[in-house]
Amino acid sequence: MHNDLCEILLTEEQIRARVTELSAQLSKDYAGKEPVFVGVLRGVVMFYSDLTRYFSEYCQMDFMCVSSYEGTESTNSCTISKDVSIDLAGRHVVILEDILDTGHSMSFVYQHLLSKSPASLKICTLLDKPSRRDPALSDLRADYIGFTIPNKFVVGYGLDFNDRYRNLPFIGVLKPEMYE
Ligand code: IMP
Ligand code: MG
Repeated sequence: MHNDLCEILLTEEQIRARVTELSAQLSKDYAGKEPVFVGVLRGVVMFYSDLTRYFSEYCQMDFMCVSSYEGTESTNSCTISKDVSIDLAGRHVVILEDILDTGHSMSFVYQHLLSKSPASLKICTLLDKPSRRDPALSDLRADYIGFTIPNKFVVGYGLDFNDRYRNLPFIGVLKPEMYE
C-alpha cells in the first residue's frame, strides 16, 4: 500500500498536533454551548474521533452520509443516504469534514443543515484545497481549518481513492499512475 504513494504530505505527529490545537480552540469557543458535531461520512471518521476525543465540554455526536453524482457540473448534485438523527433546531452545530475541494458537497450539507434552524452553524474541515474551489462558491469558507494544502490528490487518515487507503495513519499523495 505504501508503494502507491509518492510523498507523505502530513505525518501522524503533524496531524496529532494540529487536531489537538483545533480541539482546544473548539473547547474554548463552545464552552457552555453543548454543540452538536455533525460528521460527514465516511472520510471524516479519523478526524472526527480524534477531534471530539479531546473536546473537553459537553457535546453531542451525529453523522450524515451524502453522495455526489459523478460527472455533473451542477453545484447541488448530492443525495443524502443518511441524515442526522438529533433535532438541530436551536442547537449550535459544527460540521466536521475531511476536505473542502470544489466545495459542492459542503455547500449542499451546509444548506441542508441550515434548513433545520440551528442557533449557529459552522464548518470545520481537516484539509482545505482553496485552489480547487468552484468560483461560484467563492463565499464558502471554513471557520476552522486543519491544513491548507496544494492541489494534489491525497489519501489516508480517512481519505480514500476507490475506497482504499482510509486506514493509513498519515496523509500521503497518491502516485499519479494509480489513477491515470
Ligand atoms: P468537494 O469537491 O468539495 O465537493 O469534495 C467532495 C469530496 O471529494 C470530499 O468530501 C472528499 O471525499 C473527496 N475528495 C476531494 N479531494 C480529495 C482528495 O484529494 N483525496 C481524497 N478525496 C478527495
Ligand atoms: Mg468527504
